[in-house]
Amino acid sequence: MRLLIAALFIVVLGSCVKGKRFTGAPFDSTYYTENHRPQFHFSPAKNWTNDPNGLVYYEGEYHLFYQYNPYGDTWGHMSWGHAVSKDLVHWEHLPLALNEYQDPGTGDSTMIFSGTVVVDKDNSSGLCNGKDCLVAIYTSNVHKDNQGLRQHQSLAYSNDMGRTWERYDKNPILDIQRKDFRDPKVFWYEPKQFWVMALVIPDKYIVRFYTSKNLLDWSPLSEFGGMGDTTRIWECPDLYEVPVENESGKSKWVLSLSGGHPQGPAFVGMQYFVGNFDGERFTLDDPKQPNLYVDYGKDFYAGIVVNNLPAQARNPIMIGWVNNWTYANQIPTSPWRGAMSIPRVLSLRNTYNGYRLIQHPVQSVYNQHGNEVIDLNQPLGKSMEFEVIIILRSAQRAGVTILKNENEETVIGYDVKTKELYIDRSHSGVIGFNKEFPTIERVKVSPVNDQITLSIFVDQSIVEVFINGGELVLTEQIFPTHDKVFYKTWSDNGGASIATVAWELNSVWR
Ligand code: FRU
Repeated sequence: MRLLIAALFIVVLGSCVKGKRFTGAPFDSTYYTENHRPQFHFSPAKNWTNDPNGLVYYEGEYHLFYQYNPYGDTWGHMSWGHAVSKDLVHWEHLPLALNEYQDPGTGDSTMIFSGTVVVDKDNSSGLCNGKDCLVAIYTSNVHKDNQGLRQHQSLAYSNDMGRTWERYDKNPILDIQRKDFRDPKVFWYEPKQFWVMALVIPDKYIVRFYTSKNLLDWSPLSEFGGMGDTTRIWECPDLYEVPVENESGKSKWVLSLSGGHPQGPAFVGMQYFVGNFDGERFTLDDPKQPNLYVDYGKDFYAGIVVNNLPAQARNPIMIGWVNNWTYANQIPTSPWRGAMSIPRVLSLRNTYNGYRLIQHPVQSVYNQHGNEVIDLNQPLGKSMEFEVIIILRSAQRAGVTILKNENEETVIGYDVKTKELYIDRSHSGVIGFNKEFPTIERVKVSPVNDQITLSIFVDQSIVEVFINGGELVLTEQIFPTHDKVFYKTWSDNGGASIATVAWELNSVWR
């Protein structure tokens, strides 16, 4: 009898565990413990991922869909992976949402490229069984042997909280007969009671806006483009309203997109424009706006914001892909490749130079705090947060070093002469997989009252540095050969005072 109960217990426990984890992947004591495996960032259990897709909040759950190769750890067979979360930090893996498929007419293979998910609140599409449902609009990328032939926009819908999806039988819903035309982002524009879609013509540096009453039939509204950073093709646009800090009730529209990088055309990054949207056209707030970048590190791309946030959450939340196309297919991780950033709450600050995006980690990241670290001279945990105040005084250079062993270091410093905050990963560990990887990133920063403040999040292979309360952010990957963090402060002539408070961050995967 005892044996029977024990066996039953194991079966029940086994199936619960299976439900919570990656379908088919048995939970064992090594789950999410591999070298370089982020502990409080999202990464798929195995295989390749790039862009986050279809971020949406619905019935108490955040959905993360993501560009996913079910068959390997490099780009290919693009499909939508799927995970859900109650807090944007603890994720439950779900089965693939949308798979690459064979076009029944031509036999051509169609990949599911990046796109959006909306809550069709009043069943405007007529595809919902009840009062509402989830509708995905994605780029259907028709290809032969990975060579793109055509890109159009297609639709799929789900009547069971995103667990299963049906492709619309009259796809595509938007086709301009172009090879490159992609990455739709759709949102509900309340003042005019219609849907708006933003998508790009990548090689022309154009964002196009379309409108629809039913998510099925789309007509053109306007175009924006030909300005900003046009050193690399434009991808993954998003348009959203962002509250201005300390100006109650005031907001501006931000158009963000992926493309050029502040450090030149060898890399890709994200830029943004601040302006107004009147339901037809996006116009710049400052026609002479300089190029503005969402992140000044090398590893933040394809970020989009979460649709349909609960009403009390006024500020958009963005998640990006922590990688760079220049070396994304070569980073030394296994059995997965690619991860998502800390979800970031966005606001605008009215600065001397104009409106600038401010980014803060979502609150639930702080809920992962373990013990506060008392002795910073000891080897620290695997995943850490450091809150650092550097008072510069007479120092010319000052900062912190995150060491992983004696020969490896990642240095974050401020140079008074050049007024630059920099992160140097040229000796950070494994760097030889691509010659563009071992670099130093720099961004101009003005001290506030002689101080630079840094919030540094270190998670195995991901470092995110939020500067001066989120005014600027640097996201970088590092691949140290040891998994413990060592921490050191320095200043070139001992002139600076550096105060640090640090916490271990608990894993969300174990
Ligand atoms: C951006 C991107 C998108 C495209 C997807 C394909 O990283 O190139 O433009 O939809 O990735 O995986």
